[in-house]
Amino acid sequence: MKEILLLSDVHANYPALKAVGESLDLDRFDTIINAGDITVYGTFPNESIHWFKDLGERAINIVGNTDRRILRLLKGKKMKKPRIQEKRVMYDWTCEHLSGASIDFLRSLRKKNKFRVEGLDLGIFHGSAAKPNAQVFPTSPLSRFVQLAGKGSYDIHIMGHSHVPFHKIINGVHFINPGSVGRMFDGDPRASYAILRIKSGQCRIEHFRVAYKVDDVVKGLREHNLPDIYGEMFQVGRKLN
Ligand SMILES: [Fe+2]
Repeated sequence: MKEILLLSDVHANYPALKAVGESLDLDRFDTIINAGDITVYGTFPNESIHWFKDLGERAINIVGNTDRRILRLLKGKKMKKPRIQEKRVMYDWTCEHLSGASIDFLRSLRKKNKFRVEGLDLGIFHGSAAKPNAQVFPTSPLSRFVQLAGKGSYDIHIMGHSHVPFHKIINGVHFINPGSVGRMFDGDPRASYAILRIKSGQCRIEHFRVAYKVDDVVKGLREHNLPDIYGEMFQVGRKLN
């Protein structure tokens, strides 16, 4: 049996990522997936990146939309988005505080990735197999899933971006979103993740929530005089802007 830890949308919330890591015996996982958006909204992008780098080749990382926006801003591209000033502050802060090693790490990542386990093909996408910025929800129309199931020859699609944990099987294809480690939107601030177990071509998926010290991520924002709205966002576990 192979065990795969599915993580996504850490959003520089290292206290949440650390709590997930400490709640598990990480050595037991054959692979640890990071489905993107490791940066922006918390003040711990370097610590979060370092956590994944430390796992070495067991970690498979891809970039998310926030990470790609950071890379474009670092290139000096003029960007209209984010239009909300408070959001722009968070992006600018991240650009100013990312270490050279962290920037190199983000630059090295692909928009999607794939690997094979026990005879199954797994695709890792931030949004969907069709578009890296497309949000897929458990309530998305069936036709959308049918279309995605026909995209490539993956047995399992691992996706992030919508921050909504779910597992669906459509036309024999598994769609899994582990939820967001660092920025949940459902009113429950706890970190979300999933464990995928594959044995003889069969897979089993379990979702989990882990409490973490939300005050630690809020304190980071206060220390850097960043907008209060994001502290509140972490505390209530909801998207506020
Ligand atoms: Fe995200």
